[in-house]
Amino acid sequence: MYSTVLLLHSWLRWAVILAGLFALVRGMGGWSGVRAWTRVDERAGFWFVATLDLQVLIGLVLYFFLSPLTTGAFEDFGGAMRNSVLRFWAVEHTFGMIVGAALAHIGRVRSRRAPAARKHRTAAIFYGLALLAILVSIPWPGMPAGRALFGW
Ligand code: HEM
Repeated sequence: MYSTVLLLHSWLRWAVILAGLFALVRGMGGWSGVRAWTRVDERAGFWFVATLDLQVLIGLVLYFFLSPLTTGAFEDFGGAMRNSVLRFWAVEHTFGMIVGAALAHIGRVRSRRAPAARKHRTAAIFYGLALLAILVSIPWPGMPAGRALFGW
């Protein structure tokens, strides 16, 4: 169960990153080209937030129930904070991803409500910041808590 959910979480990251990049490129392109806001822009934001929400949900299941790293860290949180790998999983990864998800949600709501002239700019700024928070919180290979790019 744990390894299946972890594998799903590992692969779903690519869907989140691709959806985020697409939403960002649409926002930046529309902003600089002063293009009208279309259904494709609307759907791009939807898929970014939807894949991200699913990833957050799976992450929370790992965090509270399945991962021996985080559930173990809760037993001695002070000790875990002195270990950079345990601290990454117990605090940094989770906090960064929650910030990313919050920014993506704010971006979607605000870009939908913004006047036509500001929709793309709002989407580009918030989706860009969301993607940044997500990318710096991923356990890339080479980091102390790093993982494979394509786990099996
Ligand atoms: C609140 C949101 C999230 C929480 C609580 C969370 C929690 C976790 C936990 C507990 C682990 C497993 C540690 C282990 O037992 O090995 C993990 C691994 C991972 N998470 Fe998250 N996560 C969240 C969001 C995300 C998001 C949004 C992404 C990427 C878009 C992401 C990417 C990853 C990756 C790549 C791994 C390593 C998987 C592997 O072993 O290959 N996480 N996460």
